[in-house]
Amino acid sequence: MVCDKVGRPIRDIRVSLTHRCNLKCIYCHGEGERHPVGELGVSEIERVVAVAAGEGVRRVKLTGGEPLLRRDVFEVVGRLSSIPGIEEVSMTTNATLLADMAGELKEAGLKRVNVSLDSLVPERYKEITGFDKLDSVLRGIDEAVRVGLSPVKINMVLLKDLNDDEFWDLARFSREKGVILQVIELVDLGDNSIFQRYHAGVEPLESELQRQAERIVTRSMHKRKKYFLPGGAEVEIVKPVHNSDFCSNCTRIRLTSDGKLKPCLMRNDNLVDVAEPLRKGSDPKTLRELFLKAVELREPYYRAEDE
Ligand code: 5AD
Repeated sequence: MVCDKVGRPIRDIRVSLTHRCNLKCIYCHGEGERHPVGELGVSEIERVVAVAAGEGVRRVKLTGGEPLLRRDVFEVVGRLSSIPGIEEVSMTTNATLLADMAGELKEAGLKRVNVSLDSLVPERYKEITGFDKLDSVLRGIDEAVRVGLSPVKINMVLLKDLNDDEFWDLARFSREKGVILQVIELVDLGDNSIFQRYHAGVEPLESELQRQAERIVTRSMHKRKKYFLPGGAEVEIVKPVHNSDFCSNCTRIRLTSDGKLKPCLMRNDNLVDVAEPLRKGSDPKTLRELFLKAVELREPYYRAEDE
């Protein structure tokens, strides 16, 4: 198992399959990708993940843009799930296309999904995402649960004056559907105006959850807190902003859609290109060196910020 220079093991790889998306969420950080050119092919992704698995990576999260826009997404899921050492392939999706794809994704080996859903009010959903697709998303969630992708999680980015009054509605909805609600603090990635306008601290909500929860557990990933509420709702809080616990418990590395290993969501000054070596047909040894270089470049963000 490989660790970075501050001792964090690398257990997860977050793979962006495409920068394309069929929504335009006002806050989207696009997984921190800047102007990607081209997309890796399925075999190229497979080669990188195989090398990562050889170094101890156990979980793959597929993301985008919107990963379901990739025509070969079933093949990607199938090939990555078959890599020795990979225990779990999951996906973050906006679920607009999920209803018709969930069954085949499950058959291909997908274990679970995170669905982006910030509001249950159609007008608000449209205001946030730019599109009138709430119904398809809700069908997508039902189908994901039905085919046994488990757990299904809902990602709700908390947005001041836009959806911060909807937490309890989404918690009830999640309980009724048997899914987990993840509340995510808005991250600022460049566009300060959106951040200033919509950033809402998760602390007031956390205090309330602390008061009401029957049980609280701290997950190893990012030291995320998970609250079990009376009646059965499960809520996780993801607090990436100014949170040294988040960074010091980060076990994740990223692969951008255009083939760059990305040590941290927040930074673009330390990417390691693998697209060119992949195209040149580099052997696993070269790819391994590049992977280890990216791991070596990992630095807790709060440090970079303090400098
Ligand atoms: N802040 C926090 N989370 C974000 N996401 C996208 N942009 C941001 C941001 N600026 C998250 C959403 C979505 C997932 C793909 O990324 O939760 O579900």
